[in-house]
Order: sequence, then C-alpha cells, then structure tokens
Amino acid sequence: MEKRKVLVAGASGYLGRYVVREFARRGYAVRALVRSPEKLASEGPNLEPAVASMVEEIHRGDAADPASLKDACRGVDIVFSCMGLTKPQEGVTSEKVDHLGNRALLEDAMTHGVRKFIYISVFNAEKMMEVDVVKAHELFVKDLQSSGMPFTVIRPTGFFSDMGMFLSMARSGHMFMLGDGENHVNPIHGADLANICVDAVESSAIEISAGGPDTYTFNETVEMAFQAVGKSPWITHIPMWIGDAALFVTGIFNKSLAGVLAFAVSVSGLDNVAPPTGTHHLGDFYRELVTGGETKA
Ligand SMILES: NC(=O)c1ccc[n+]([C@@H]2O[C@H](COP(=O)([O-])OP(=O)(O)OC[C@H]3O[C@@H](n4cnc5c(N)ncnc54)[C@H](OP(=O)(O)O)[C@@H]3O)[C@@H](O)[C@H]2O)c1
Repeated sequence: MEKRKVLVAGASGYLGRYVVREFARRGYAVRALVRSPEKLASEGPNLEPAVASMVEEIHRGDAADPASLKDACRGVDIVFSCMGLTKPQEGVTSEKVDHLGNRALLEDAMTHGVRKFIYISVFNAEKMMEVDVVKAHELFVKDLQSSGMPFTVIRPTGFFSDMGMFLSMARSGHMFMLGDGENHVNPIHGADLANICVDAVESSAIEISAGGPDTYTFNETVEMAFQAVGKSPWITHIPMWIGDAALFVTGIFNKSLAGVLAFAVSVSGLDNVAPPTGTHHLGDFYRELVTGGETKA
C-alpha cells in the first residue's frame, strides 16, 4: 500500500523537526517545506533532532514569496504548518509570514485536494490580540475556518526551546525578569507536542489546547535554570510598565524586534496553563542542554 504523504511547513524549526520525526515514525512519507534544506542535516540549538534522513522530499519555499509555495501540496494528503516568524527578520512581518504565507499554503492545499490542514497557533490568543504575531496567527485561523477545508488548530503554551533562553541568561549569573514572576506556565517539549500534532490527523476536534505535564511559576522555571548551571539564582524583577515602555521605544527604532518582544511581554503578564500532556520535564531538558545532550533519553 502506498504511504500517506504529509507536507510539514516549518520543518527546520524546533517543533517542526519533532513533527517530521513523529510522522516518519508513524509511516508517513514526509515532504518538508523549508527555506534552507541544509539545516535539516544537523541537530538544532535546543537539541531538536536532525531530520534529513526522515524526509523523502523537499519543497524549497519562502512564506514571504507566495509564488514559491505553488504546488508544495501536490499529491499530499495532510498539511501540517508551524511555519512562523519567531525571530526578527529585516523587512519581514508576522502578517506576511504567519498570516499571508500560511494563507497561500492553504490555497495551494485546496487546489490539490488536501484532506486536512493542521495549524499551530498559540494558547490564550484571545488575551493577546494586540500582539502582531498573535493577531497574524488568528487572522489565518479565521481563513481556515471559512475555507471549507477540514482542520485542527493546536494551541500550545510556551515551548521548552523558549525556556532554553533562560539557561543562557543563568550561565551569565544574573537575569532580569518582567513582572513578579509569580504567573504560572506549563511549558511543553517538542516531542510531546508532536504527538498531539500527529494525533490530530484522526481527531474530529477543531481546536486542541496543550501544555506540558508540570506547572511552574516563571520564577521556578528560572531557578531551575540556575540550578542546572550550578549557580545561585540572582533575579532582578522589572515592573511590567518598564517592559511596555521599553517596547514602545524599541518599536520606534526596530519594528521587527519590537514585534517579537511584544509576545514575551504579553506572555509574562498572564497565567499560561493549558490541559497537561506528555512525559518530558523542564529540569531534565536544562540538564541535557548543559551536558550537550549526553543525558538525553
Ligand atoms: N516557541 C514557543 O514557545 C511557541 C509557543 C506557541 C506557539 N508557537 C508557534 O509555533 C510555531 C513554531 O514555533 P517554533 O518555536 O518551532 O519556531 P522556530 O523554531 O523558529 O521555527 C519556525 C519555522 O518557520 C520557518 N519560517 C520562518 N520564516 C519563514 C519564511 N519566511 N518562509 C518559510 N519558512 C519560514 C522557519 O524556517 P527557518 O529555519 O528557515 O528560519 C522554521 O522552520 C510558530 O508559529 C510559533 O509562533 C511557538
């Protein structure tokens, strides 16, 4: 029997690599939509796996250039997209990538009779609609809802990869944290989230919210990072209004950096606890990063 084919858009990113691996494990033929295929050959900065050997086909495309996405979905049964702007890029906006890039992909999926579109948005989106990247995600969700294409939107909390940044700061011995750090979060590992993403193929749910198995305060996530690098926690809390003011000033000089920072500022001011799932723990992840993956299960 011929294998079912999935297009994974954003396959070179933190989540995308785990999703490629999970689809391949479950017997799918994976086509990766990427800008830089060479990235797939090596492990990512947060120990996300090299996946070049798990990918059967590559479609090279850039979300900011919709014409390059044409026929990415030809012959594909399922489209999974976590293609999104998470780092500032000169002259590129979330609207261009997260909204319009994914919309171009959806149009191509409809042209080629794709069976289902699975999309990654964010948890608590309705509380952060003033943030460009969240708005762009949700504009695309609206496009999906009105398209007639069967779909599932997955809404995760923060990824372990985002918590990885705390480790770099802990290594320096000191870190600044917005707010009092007492809001709660249950961050999720890419492998645990990938299971949810692939299960979504057979799910009738149109929305799935997901977080990791453990809930911490932001202070606890940072204290664990200090512990992993063997240093005593030294955290300076900055009032939220200073974060907002810094964002305003950054926005004047560097719009794309401000767009990415705005998400971090909004998340710091909220509890982000979604239905728990998975088996990976943040403390283990930090220790793996410190040892360069030697303790990885
Ligand atoms: N990180 C979190 O805590 C978190 C939480 C909730 C939701 N999300 C959402 O989940 C998605 C994936 O996040 P992630 O942390 O896995 O991000 P990531 O590691 O930065 O991966 C993003 C992927 O999108 C691709 N991409 C970016 N701009 C592109 C463009 N112009 N054309 C084609 N591909 C492009 C990247 O390709 P390159 O490798 O070429 O850059 C990469 O493959 C994002 O939409 C993000 O908003 C993230």
